[in-house]
Amino acid sequence: MTPILFVTDLDHTLVGDDFAHEELNEWFQQTRSTGSKIVYSTGRSLIRYQELAAEAPLIEPDLLIASVGTAIYSRLDGAPDLEWQKKLTVGWNRDRVMAVTAHFSDLVLQAETEQSDFKASFFLTEEAAIELLPQLDYQLKQQELDVQLIYSSGRDLDILPRHANKGSALTFVRQTLGFAPEQTIVCGDSGNDIALFAVGSERGIMVGNAQPELRSWHRDHPAPHHYLAKSYCAAGILEGLEYFGFR
Ligand code: GLC
Ligand code: MG
Repeated sequence: MTPILFVTDLDHTLVGDDFAHEELNEWFQQTRSTGSKIVYSTGRSLIRYQELAAEAPLIEPDLLIASVGTAIYSRLDGAPDLEWQKKLTVGWNRDRVMAVTAHFSDLVLQAETEQSDFKASFFLTEEAAIELLPQLDYQLKQQELDVQLIYSSGRDLDILPRHANKGSALTFVRQTLGFAPEQTIVCGDSGNDIALFAVGSERGIMVGNAQPELRSWHRDHPAPHHYLAKSYCAAGILEGLEYFGFR
């Protein structure tokens, strides 16, 4: 078996079905012994990741991509990768982004732990999002702020530097670790995972409980290297691994 780079989202993708998760952990250990790497890619900050790790049966990953791709940790007790952080500074001015968002009362700031130098995160209802997102995008462009708006699960809005998302962070990690896209598997369930599937020809598994925004992206961009599972969470990942013949 050739070594693979396995990259998965956590909440509602790897995490959510402990029984299937434990089964997948066994596969992780087996495939790791042949040189594969396990990478978690989460919207959570490192602190919130550690909270989850205390509750869910998560094995220690080879690498953690946190905060929607804006922080990459090769050690969970270390600092984020500096080379990656440097790339994110291009065209990014968080104070000016925050000044624009202050005009929108429907944007509710998330917890302090989820804010960082390269990520501004809000709660936003689905109803308010319909009108607000195009207006916010327009205002940011007017101010020549070249950023990305990522809306997930009908609830979370992340404003990120142009060069940061789960997909670009994956490419950085994949190239650093030396894996081809065809040797890479990505798994996800929501809006912030679209970048994982959109970035290239990586094998993609969307779990059966995927959110409407990911499903509709999949409908608009069908690809033979993407699989929408029927089962939920880790059981959906196991199903996808079988579909691609990795298990
Ligand atoms: C996680 C993060 C949150 C982010 C969301 C969607 O829940 O904690 O800050 O908005 O993922 O990316
Ligand atoms: Mg998720």
